Amino acid sequence: MNRFWQLTAYPQGTDFASGITLQEEAMPEIGENQLLVENLWLSLDAGTRMWLTPRTDSYMDPTPLGSKIIGFVLSRVVQSRHAGFKEGDIVRAYGQWADYSVLYPDMGDIWVVEDIGDMRQHFAVLGPNGWTAYVGLTEYGKVRPGETVLVSAAAGATGLLAAQFAKAMGCRVIGIAGGPDKAALLTGTWGLDAAIDYKAQDVGGALAQIAPGGIDCYFDCVGGPILDAVLPNMAMNGRVAVCGLISTYDKEEREGPRNFDLILMKRLTIAGFFSPDFYFRGGEINRLTRPWLEAGKVGMAFDTTQGLENTLTAYGKLFSGGNVGKVMVKLTD
Ligand SMILES: NC(=O)c1ccc[n+]([C@@H]2O[C@H](COP(=O)([O-])OP(=O)(O)OC[C@H]3O[C@@H](n4cnc5c(N)ncnc54)[C@H](OP(=O)(O)O)[C@@H]3O)[C@@H](O)[C@H]2O)c1
Repeated sequence: MNRFWQLTAYPQGTDFASGITLQEEAMPEIGENQLLVENLWLSLDAGTRMWLTPRTDSYMDPTPLGSKIIGFVLSRVVQSRHAGFKEGDIVRAYGQWADYSVLYPDMGDIWVVEDIGDMRQHFAVLGPNGWTAYVGLTEYGKVRPGETVLVSAAAGATGLLAAQFAKAMGCRVIGIAGGPDKAALLTGTWGLDAAIDYKAQDVGGALAQIAPGGIDCYFDCVGGPILDAVLPNMAMNGRVAVCGLISTYDKEEREGPRNFDLILMKRLTIAGFFSPDFYFRGGEINRLTRPWLEAGKVGMAFDTTQGLENTLTAYGKLFSGGNVGKVMVKLTD
């Protein structure tokens, strides 16, 4: 039998159990050019929340009701009917939140990955979160050494990588995160220059003190009130790389940023991006970031949950701030 998480209704807010249920089916059979894989790890990503709504103007189509939940998996090929893959290959791919997935390699977004010890790094420094951070900083944030870079959700997977990459690129880096423990981790373990606890501090006031010259690049994972507080603190000709808007994903009402006029007054550039547009550059980016990983210059904290049945609890951490670093579910012992 194969267990999988099924979307039965679009969840309300963060009550994921209201619309996502664990089901069982007979082991799927594969057709020509398909693979059956055993999922070893699930990568839980905040962006998935956008596919679990009925909105049709997002970057991915809504997941149809009745479907399995799609997500990144690290898996072992157990049966191959595709000439490019053999049994035993370890792949990173879009699969499902399930014990086993059927994959269609010709549709793309599947990579055979090498054994690097901690395979979770294939989703972190050397995977989609790392590619997002790198592309966001360089192509959209256009960071240069010596500049002041601000990162929100800085103790989460994508933000922690953006913050560390910016440090490795020679920038002064300020992180925003929820709670004193996360703020202390950012300046302690992760070597950021300063951190702001947005739950206890006035973000705008703190930025004015920490960065009186202004923020050159804001790598924004959050949007909402934090973005409102950051815009008045941007430097002239600053750039905002809009990576994510996690504060808004489960809201039906959409709000624009306050202080919109400052985009004009400060000559700001605000640009959104989605990493799937850059997955083809993953190998090239890894050639630059892997030496940082191997030298211990960058890394990742992992928040690991054991067992497919605990996936929703793990997923909820992304929206409550219960995680530090990359949230993953381990499916095998
Ligand atoms: N553009 C792309 O291609 C791309 C790719 C990957 C991720 N992203 C985006 O990057 C962001 C982070 O995703 P992730 O998967 O790496 O998750 P993550 O950062 O590991 O976890 C999400 C974090 O967001 C913070 N958060 C949640 N709700 C918040 C709110 N209302 N206000 C402020 N902070 C809040 C929480 O930290 P605190 O404790 O600090 O609140 C939480 O730990 C998301 O917006 C995601 O959509 C975009």
